[in-house]
Amino acid sequence: MAGAAAARLDHAASDGHRDGRLHRDALRAGVGGSRPGAGRGRTRGRRDRGRGGVGGIAVALLARLGHNVTAISGRAAIHDYLRDLGARQVVGRDALPVGKARPLESERWGGAVDTVGGDLLAALLPTMAYNTTVACCGNAGGIELRTTVFPFILRAVALVGVESVLCPAERRRHAWSRLARDLPLDALDRMTQTVPLADAPRLSAEILAGRVRGRVVVDVNRC
Ligand SMILES: NC(=O)c1ccc[n+]([C@@H]2O[C@H](COP(=O)([O-])OP(=O)(O)OC[C@H]3O[C@@H](n4cnc5c(N)ncnc54)[C@H](OP(=O)(O)O)[C@@H]3O)[C@@H](O)[C@H]2O)c1
Repeated sequence: MAGAAAARLDHAASDGHRDGRLHRDALRAGVGGSRPGAGRGRTRGRRDRGRGGVGGIAVALLARLGHNVTAISGRAAIHDYLRDLGARQVVGRDALPVGKARPLESERWGGAVDTVGGDLLAALLPTMAYNTTVACCGNAGGIELRTTVFPFILRAVALVGVESVLCPAERRRHAWSRLARDLPLDALDRMTQTVPLADAPRLSAEILAGRVRGRVVVDVNRC
């Protein structure tokens, strides 16, 4: 994906269980790295990057937990891919009142994960339902946030920051156990490609041009 994944109001909870994730899976999920001294362990040898990796993982996780997930993406070419990851609906960015949101809009979402920030997040907040949460974890669309306090003080919407570099070890372990349980490995397979180091220059251009989806793991031990 996809800039943002939002769970619609009519979600149903379910549980799932799966164990035995590997460090390789951490890299593919984009949560394998840490700054020295910040958490336990340190990623060596590979870096990952790809268009929409965080949003795609949010879609797969929320769908696995039984939520009715809507993915928001500006690329029609990846809509089927997002459905395959578990989105029941995929809509364009114009499904939100980007750049023209009123302080409060009709309530649409029961929760949201935003990787974009900027105008898209500003359009998301007034469309959140009462007493819901938006996880703010990226700035792909901008670092500024022009909004009003109304979603917070009239609808009890919570805007929660997500940070994965200085995250303490104990919280990291908890997140890991949830990923091991809730992230379907087949979804991770579908959103990941592994390439040798020699492909990095070509892929850099492809990523900047928005032609790569999901995660790319660059294996620096393969040339
Ligand atoms: N908080 C943390 O700990 C943490 C951890 C990892 C990553 N991040 C951040 O999370 C964000 C997402 O990471 P990623 O690897 O998935 O990044 P990405 O590859 O840049 O993808 C972000 C997606 O945002 C959408 N987008 C880009 N520019 C946009 C714009 N101007 N308006 C609306 N949508 C736009 C695109 O989706 P479509 O093409 O589908 O529209 C793009 O695929 C990044 O900002 C990254 O730095 C944060």
